[in-house]
Amino acid sequence: MNIAITGATSGIGEQALKSLIHDFEQIFILARNEKKANDIIQEFSKEDQKKCIFIYIDLADMDSVVKAAEKISSKTDHLDVLINNAGGIFKEKEITKDGFEMSLSANHLGHYLLTNKLLPLLLKSKVSKVIHVSSEAHRMGNVNFNDLNYDKRSFSSFGFYANVKLFNILFSKSLVEKFGSEGLKSYALHPGVVKTNFGQETAGAFSFLWKLASPFMITAEQGAQTTIYLAKNKIDDKHNGAYFKKSKPVTPSRSANSKSMRDKLWNKSSELLEKWM
Ligand SMILES: NC(=O)c1ccc[n+]([C@@H]2O[C@H](COP(=O)([O-])OP(=O)(O)OC[C@H]3O[C@@H](n4cnc5c(N)ncnc54)[C@H](OP(=O)(O)O)[C@@H]3O)[C@@H](O)[C@H]2O)c1
Repeated sequence: MNIAITGATSGIGEQALKSLIHDFEQIFILARNEKKANDIIQEFSKEDQKKCIFIYIDLADMDSVVKAAEKISSKTDHLDVLINNAGGIFKEKEITKDGFEMSLSANHLGHYLLTNKLLPLLLKSKVSKVIHVSSEAHRMGNVNFNDLNYDKRSFSSFGFYANVKLFNILFSKSLVEKFGSEGLKSYALHPGVVKTNFGQETAGAFSFLWKLASPFMITAEQGAQTTIYLAKNKIDDKHNGAYFKKSKPVTPSRSANSKSMRDKLWNKSSELLEKWM
């Protein structure tokens, strides 16, 4: 069995990698910082080190996403599990070199493109699972599909983050709707409120509340448990497309279950990424 994971150079992804290395024969570590990835790989036994393949990806650079998918395709004829874990909340509005708002690009568009490019490999697997690390913040999402890239709206660190975490669930459900009949499984999850590098660079009210919550947060190892559970276990088919918390399916917001929202997100994302699709 093989697996690919984004954002394994820190926090929840790093802990998921450290656990899953024991359950998979080949693990593609998709990261933008090769040194950080190599430092983590060095901690593994010689046997486990041989399983790791570093693949450069910057989810804010769509050319690199396409190249990463091509590199994986050149190294394997199938992919069993893809974990779309990387992401974050941003202090200021930033536009990537491709012209996308950073939060949208790093949390959603990069993974949307990566997953679509890897679909042929995923559909060749007998397991074929995609796992999206979303958040309870999705419940605060307030999306304007005519301004998905936030060209017209003023910046809100948490507001933008809530939207992209809602997109993670909508995208997960779309994958099941479109490819579930071909065997694809897809799940989204909330990891808990986890002490990681997440939120370290924010300012204002969110930063204040995040610092206040810090003593009550769970560890990254605890925060990785639902990701690990979904990656390792066979999940009942009736939960395909579900949203998980503490390794159990839970009901997400009404918006997250909306068919019209997931269709709009799929179409708008394809439109924005047309050049790379
Ligand atoms: N912590 C929480 O309480 C919490 C709660 C709900 C959901 N989440 C979600 O959990 C996921 C993991 O976050 P975390 O808490 O583990 O935070 P973290 O410690 O900051 O880890 C984030 C990971 O994402 C990577 N990343 C960020 N932007 C990237 C980009 N443009 N291209 C490639 N990789 C990129 C980072 O790479 P570098 O090492 O290179 O920076 C890092 O490996 C995120 O999706 C987050 O939204 C976290």
